[in-house]
Amino acid sequence: MPQAIIIGNSDGIGLALTTALLEKGWDVTGISRSQSPITGDRYRHHVVDIRSDEYDGAVAQALDRAGRGIDLCVYCAGIGEEIDFDHLDADIAVFEVNLIGLVRTVSLVLPGMLAAGRGHLIGLSSQGDSFLNVDAPSYSASKAGMSSYLEALALAVRNRGVFVTNVRFGFVATKMAKADTRPFEISAEKAATCMLRCVDKRPIRYTYPRRMAALLWLANGINRVRTWVK
Ligand SMILES: NC(=O)c1ccc[n+]([C@@H]2O[C@H](COP(=O)([O-])OP(=O)(O)OC[C@H]3O[C@@H](n4cnc5c(N)ncnc54)[C@H](OP(=O)(O)O)[C@@H]3O)[C@@H](O)[C@H]2O)c1
Repeated sequence: MPQAIIIGNSDGIGLALTTALLEKGWDVTGISRSQSPITGDRYRHHVVDIRSDEYDGAVAQALDRAGRGIDLCVYCAGIGEEIDFDHLDADIAVFEVNLIGLVRTVSLVLPGMLAAGRGHLIGLSSQGDSFLNVDAPSYSASKAGMSSYLEALALAVRNRGVFVTNVRFGFVATKMAKADTRPFEISAEKAATCMLRCVDKRPIRYTYPRRMAALLWLANGINRVRTWVK
């Protein structure tokens, strides 16, 4: 039975992906700060904050349980905050969860995959990774770091039997999507279906929907021009 660890799956895309993998017969361990609504013989959950000292132990337990090694690790955890000039320290948490949490996870999971010569690591970045996001600079900057890290890592391990995928969605209808206008928004279930395709095909970069990428490219052009004007 294929084994997966899904980090950040009490809600949103991670929850939809966990449900979809279980339906397909996978054995799944989930990690988040809240309990999971999912129960079942092939599912177990660790309640832990990625930023805490206990996180490494929770991942180690999930890896131990898999025994012969895990097939898939998906980093779905993420937060995003609008900039608040009275509380700029909130931006630190955004980088810690989105970017440092991913790097920490890679340091725990990738060595075993490389030793086994197999495994697939997926990170949920965002199409916002190349956008100068004036409302939430820390979110897009953390996603830029994620995308760059994941794609370079994918190239670094490509000849060692291990695959790394950077997933870049536009808007997905979860509690994270707070913007008043959300063009081309998809459901969490549709996002999970896209991710199953990634599990199957193992691309280095997966962007969906592409229409949103075109829109962001135009919007970003305007922001880039604004940086040239004094
Ligand atoms: N929704 C969108 O429009 C969209 C678009 C593009 C990319 N993405 C990316 O997709 C990923 C998932 O987003 P989503 O929309 O599914 O958001 P979500 O519904 O808010 O889910 C985020 C998950 O991350 C977990 N999490 C957050 N902080 C954590 C921490 N410190 N420790 C452990 N778990 C933590 C949450 O669980 P707990 O709160 O229980 O810990 C939750 O399960 C994020 O990286 C996001 O940036 C989302």
